[in-house]
Amino acid sequence: MDQSIKAYIKLLVQEAVQQSPGLPGSLPTGRTQYVIANWKMNKTLQEMLDFLQQLKEGNGVEVVVCPPAPLLYPAKLYVQGQNKDIHIGAQNTHQEENGAYTGETAASLLKEIGCSHCIIGHSERRQYAQEDDATVNLKAKQALKRGLTPIICIGETLQQKQQNQTEKVLTTQMLGALEGIDASEVVFAYEPVWAIGTGESATAEEAQRIHAYIRAVLAHLDKENAEKVSILYGGSVNENNAQEFAAMTDIDGVLVGGASLKVDSFQKIIAVFAKGA
Ligand code: 13P
Repeated sequence: MDQSIKAYIKLLVQEAVQQSPGLPGSLPTGRTQYVIANWKMNKTLQEMLDFLQQLKEGNGVEVVVCPPAPLLYPAKLYVQGQNKDIHIGAQNTHQEENGAYTGETAASLLKEIGCSHCIIGHSERRQYAQEDDATVNLKAKQALKRGLTPIICIGETLQQKQQNQTEKVLTTQMLGALEGIDASEVVFAYEPVWAIGTGESATAEEAQRIHAYIRAVLAHLDKENAEKVSILYGGSVNENNAQEFAAMTDIDGVLVGGASLKVDSFQKIIAVFAKGA
């Protein structure tokens, strides 16, 4: 590893430890708390309507449901018609305004149909759509230009973790994603790739340590705003472990895959974060 990067990361780790001892937080942070459902390529129109009919509002927590693209508009119409304070988010957008990009969706269209958020750089897309940090950056810029809040996903693979590369990988992903972007306008989601869909989440203490590190990187970029950025954890979150994550100072919500498909489980996770909001 390049010596200057090594030194930079060492400094950031020290700062993260000093600033946040990793203890459960007792005071409200003032940051928006999110509970976000990433349904990936799951659910039919009818299943979505049943889910949204049963889903209750967040009670101080920002609830965002991210269904597959063809369900975004009916989802928005439904929650609007029911006057429910539930946000609809996309799972991806394209970096260009419009044009000859078969199968892609423009951020302007997502905004027009009522989306408020957009997941960007999910590890699954980084893997099978070869999205790199530069693309993530362009997508985040396009989302912001069109008034969508990007939820930027970062995370290390198992191999990178085993090789003690976690901080380096996250730093590279963050610096790449944030090039020319004001960090206070985005939400970060730390999703260790080894924890996604495996049933093996990070421990809350492990996640807290990494979230404090992410905040230390943000503080180096923009000291004033680092404390304002919501950093979510994702990877095998469920109704049984949500409480442990919610208790941590630097964990401002969760991005939920599998457990967001059942409305009862998802509602329980929302309730956990609503208590601390
Ligand atoms: P799981 O909750 O199924 O592990 O998925 C996490 C995820 O990828 C959310 O974006």
